[in-house]
Amino acid sequence: MRYENKLFHGKTLAILSGGGDTPAINSSIEAIRNRASLLGFKVYGILQGWKGLLGDGDVVDLTNQPYDGYYGGTALRSSRTNPFPSKKNPESRVPQVLRNFERYKIDVLVTIGGDDTNGAAKRLFETEGIPVIGFPKTIDNDLRTRTIHTFQGKDIEAVLCPGFPSAARSMMEFTASIKTTAESHSRIIVMEVMGRDAGWLTGTCTFGGGSLGLIPEFDITRERKEVFFETVKEAYMHSKKKCLVIPVSEGIRWYDEKTGKVDVVYASSEVDEYGHPRFGGVSGIVASEISSKLGIEARAQISGYYPRAGHCRHYDRRLTSTLADKVVDLLLREEYGQMPVMKRIVPNVELEEFNTTSIDMGAVGNKPLSEDYYDISRFSFTDAYSDFLGNILGKPEYDDFRYDFPVVIP
Ligand code: F6P
Repeated sequence: MRYENKLFHGKTLAILSGGGDTPAINSSIEAIRNRASLLGFKVYGILQGWKGLLGDGDVVDLTNQPYDGYYGGTALRSSRTNPFPSKKNPESRVPQVLRNFERYKIDVLVTIGGDDTNGAAKRLFETEGIPVIGFPKTIDNDLRTRTIHTFQGKDIEAVLCPGFPSAARSMMEFTASIKTTAESHSRIIVMEVMGRDAGWLTGTCTFGGGSLGLIPEFDITRERKEVFFETVKEAYMHSKKKCLVIPVSEGIRWYDEKTGKVDVVYASSEVDEYGHPRFGGVSGIVASEISSKLGIEARAQISGYYPRAGHCRHYDRRLTSTLADKVVDLLLREEYGQMPVMKRIVPNVELEEFNTTSIDMGAVGNKPLSEDYYDISRFSFTDAYSDFLGNILGKPEYDDFRYDFPVVIP
């Protein structure tokens, strides 16, 4: 009865989440579900990404159900299933997806994902006419959302993806904690951070007291490596407490003296259905080379899944609500194949629907950190990057116990 006069009464909208999770996916699902319900849609959740549309399907009803949008991860669960043929799985599973679309009588599909999940959805829209709307997500923050950041009068192409703000806060806090143990032992700690292709998340460690940084955008060749060691030595010697936390992206390409090549460090030889390998372990190599080259004690800390873990933070909560408001606009206009994005990098009070727009959701592509944000000659993040982060995180947050005890002379 409640829904009879509503615009989309009798229609069904389904939501799925694919790819690596983030702390903001449940918040996105809740925000989209609430708005779609108000428009009159029945709202379904498809379990485990595209996998939930294979075989007999795995679909749940989210309409009028309690939902905890603060809870991290995704209650719809996730997978890296690709319905299109891939090297790992050459058979097309698109007919299964189409059959389930019919069986469950789905009218619109919202896909929460990165380039892979949303790229597959866009292909389904173009080749099969399935009405889809994309919703961005990644802690790596490398989906090209075309969000403009204005710094000192210059417009810089930045990125703002749900999931990144929560992950950024976690990495800021984690770095601030690690700093105290680095201080106690006068050590360098090399902090490895997720980021296969881009250093957006790695840079967030600077807000927790991290110094310098290595990112996948710039190869560390043999020559660059020498300069890097010199820079580390200088930064260590100038540090008040003789310690450093150096953030390093998992996907950096580092010169290997044994092979004479610049390459990434793989965690496993497996690739997923979109052809992505798994990286991991480069921090151990960087730390041991710092120790042997500079004679300074260095250790590695892999932050691993920590930035993906835990609850949705305040900025992400508002960001997901705002982008879900734009989904309403797209639904009302029946504009499919689109993805809502923020037009500008703004502090959280300005996260409002009038600051959004939408872009083509297919092959959005990867947006590396530009030279506006990272200075390769100093291996460090720039003031423009701090300003970008300041919009999202506010001020850097780390404790600093500035002791200066008088020395006792016997
Ligand atoms: O979501 C992207 C990402 O966070 C990458 O930075 C990382 O390499 C990857 O996920 C690892 O995810 P998983 O181990 O879950 O496949």
